Amino acid sequence: MSYDYLFKEIQIGEIHLKNRIVLSPLTSNYCDKDGFVTPRLLEYYKARAEGGVGLMIVEGAIVSQNGRGFPYQLMVDRDELIPGLGTLADQIHQSGSKAILQIMHHGRQTRAAAASGDVVAPSAVPCPAFKEMPRELSVSDIKGVVAEFAEAARRAKETGFLGVELHLAHGYLLHEFISPFANKRKDNYGGSLENRLRIVREIVETIREQLGHTFPVFCRISSDDYVEKGITIEEAIEIAKRLEQVGVAAIDVSAGVVASFYRTTPPSGSPEGLYVEAASRIKQNVNIPVIAVGRIKHPEAANQIIGESKADLVALGRALIADPDWVQKAQAGQEEFIIPCIGCNICNGRSSAPEIVCTVNGFTGREYELKLELAIQQRKIAILGGGIPGLAAACILKQRGHTVEVFTSQPLGGLAALRARVPIHHELEEAITFYSGELKRLEIHVNQHEPSKRELEDLEFNDIIVAYSDNHSEESNAIDVQSAIQVLERPEQTADQVLLVGSNVLTAETALLLGSLGKKVKIISKQSRFPNDVGTSFRQYLLEKLSALSVEIEILKSEDSWEALTGNNQVILGDSYPSIQPAINQFKDFSGEVHVLGDAYPFDDLANVVKKATDIALTMGGVTHECNKSHDGTGRKISR
Ligand SMILES: Cc1cc2nc3c(=O)[nH]c(=O)nc-3n(C[C@H](O)[C@H](O)[C@H](O)COP(=O)(O)O)c2cc1C
Ligand code: SF4
Repeated sequence: MSYDYLFKEIQIGEIHLKNRIVLSPLTSNYCDKDGFVTPRLLEYYKARAEGGVGLMIVEGAIVSQNGRGFPYQLMVDRDELIPGLGTLADQIHQSGSKAILQIMHHGRQTRAAAASGDVVAPSAVPCPAFKEMPRELSVSDIKGVVAEFAEAARRAKETGFLGVELHLAHGYLLHEFISPFANKRKDNYGGSLENRLRIVREIVETIREQLGHTFPVFCRISSDDYVEKGITIEEAIEIAKRLEQVGVAAIDVSAGVVASFYRTTPPSGSPEGLYVEAASRIKQNVNIPVIAVGRIKHPEAANQIIGESKADLVALGRALIADPDWVQKAQAGQEEFIIPCIGCNICNGRSSAPEIVCTVNGFTGREYELKLELAIQQRKIAILGGGIPGLAAACILKQRGHTVEVFTSQPLGGLAALRARVPIHHELEEAITFYSGELKRLEIHVNQHEPSKRELEDLEFNDIIVAYSDNHSEESNAIDVQSAIQVLERPEQTADQVLLVGSNVLTAETALLLGSLGKKVKIISKQSRFPNDVGTSFRQYLLEKLSALSVEIEILKSEDSWEALTGNNQVILGDSYPSIQPAINQFKDFSGEVHVLGDAYPFDDLANVVKKATDIALTMGGVTHECNKSHDGTGRKISR
C-alpha cells in the first residue's frame, strides 16, 4: 500500500520537510546529570533520523535550573551546553532529517529536590499530583522567565537547530499561565485569556526580535486539559488564533496535564488518533500548519489524517520509540514488519528509573552499545515457551546464525496472549502477530508441545532458553479458589458475583475483563496503592475503567483478613504471578547451557525480561564481526 499524503513534502517557513512525519518530543533522560548531550542520546536520535522521520522535535530542553523535573533531562540553560547540542543538531541533519528543539520549564509539576529547591508557578497553588507548594512568580521573575526562554532559543539557533517549539501543554509552566486550572493571578498575567497568554506573547516577540522573523517558533498547546477549570477545545481554538497573530509558525495539538496524566500519553486501548478531531478544528481556524498527535501508530491512519486535511503533519511518539524504522517501513509498504507499540507506557515512567526503555524493543536507548553480529560459534538452541521474551530471543539468535526452534504447547504469545483478552489490551495481539510474522520470515520452526529434557538432548540441542512461567500454582487448584490467570484462561466459567483478592495489575485487569462480561466484581486490596505495580499514568487509566464498570475496590485494614469478607462470592486470588521455578527444576540438569528468562505479566517486568532476552541472545555463541546491523534490532534491511 502506498501512503502518498504522508510522503508529500511541505515547507514551514524556511524549513523544507521531505515528509509529514514528525518525531514527537520525548524526554528520554539519556543525558548526564548536568543535562549534557551523551553518546547514548546521539545514537538514539541518529537511529530515528536515519529511519526517515521528516522533522524531529527534540525532547523538552530545560531553560533554567528551577525548571528541571528529572536529573538526566536535556538542558539548554548554559552556553557550555552548546557544543553537545550542536553535535546533536548536526547529526540529525546529516542523517537526512530536520531538527527543532522543544524548550520548556516544569513549573509546579516537579519536586523541590529536582528544581534546586525552588518550585515556581504562576500562583501559589500546588499541583494535585506533586503536592508541593510552589512559590508564586513576581512580575520581575516573569520577565526573567521570558529572558530565559529567549536565551534558550538563541542557544538552539546557535547550535544549528532550525527552530524551537514552546511547550505550552501538559501542565508545565507556560501552560500553567494559560490555564485557569493553575493560574489564579489577579494582575496582568491572570484573569482574561489575553492576560494568561501574555507571558507567551512576550516570549515569542522577544525571540522574533532577537533572532529574526525567519527563525520559526512552534507551539505545542493543549486542546483539553481534562481537569476542572482547565482549557477546553473552544478556548484552545482561540489560543491558536492568537498565537498565529503573534507570528507562531506551527501549532502542535496535544492534551492533558500531569493531574490527568494518561491523557498526555494515551495508553493501550485508547482510540487511534484520539486528538485528531481537536487538531482538525484548530486547523479550520488558522492558516499555519497544524500537527496532530496522540496514539497515531498505523501508516494507513496517519496517511488518512493528512489526506482528509485534518492536520498538515502527524507526530508519532511511542510508535517511534518502539520502531525507529517506522517511516522507512511505511514508505516501503512493509507495514507488517513495523514493531508495534503496545501502549504499555513503560517508556513513560517506571518506578525503577525514569529513562525511556521499551517493552517490545530491547534495543531502544541502547543503540550506542548493542550490535547484531554473527556468532563465533553457531549452536542449536531450543526456546522453551512462546511468550514475547522467548520470541524476541529466537529472532535475534536466528539472525546471528544459530539454528533455533521454539517449543510451546500454548498459543504463541504466552502470558501476553492471555492478557490480550482484557478489553484495554487488544493491542498485545499486534505484538503477537508481529512476532509470528518474524518467525515465518526467519524460518524458525515452532513445535506445538512441551519437550522433556531427554527429548532435547536426543535432538542434540546445545543450549536452551527457558522462556515460560508456570500458570498454575498449587494454591489456585482448590475448587472454590481460582487464580486470576486461570480466570483469564476461562473467564466464561466464572460465577456472576466474584471477589478478587489482590493488589497488583493482574487483579485489576482480571476485574476489568469480568466486569466487561457483566459480572459483579469486588476487589479486596491489601495495599493502599492499588494497583501497586504500575506507573501513575496506567494506574489512573485502570482506576477510571474499573469505576466505569462499577467495580468496587476495598482496601483491607491491616488487622482484617479477607477470608471473613468472602460471603457468597466466588474467590479469585490475583496476587501470585506465574512462577519460573517449575521450569527451572525441570531443566536444571540439561547437558548444555541453560538460560532462564521466564515470561512476565506486569509490563515493568516484561520490559526487563525482554531486555535480558536481548542481551542473552546477542552474546550466545560469542561475538565476532558485525552483520546486517539495523536499528530495529531485527536485522532486516530496508530498501531506502
Ligand atoms: C517517554 C515520553 C516522554 C515524553 N516527553 C515529552 C516532552 O518532553 N515534551 C512533550 O511535549 N511531550 C512529551 N511526551 C508526549 C509525547 O510527545 C506525545 O505527545 C504522546 O506520547 C502522545 O503521542 P504518541 O501516542 O504518539 O506517543 C512524552 C511522551 C513519552 C511517552
Ligand atoms: S514501552 Fe510500551 S508504550 Fe512505550 S513505546 Fe514501548 S511498547 Fe510503546
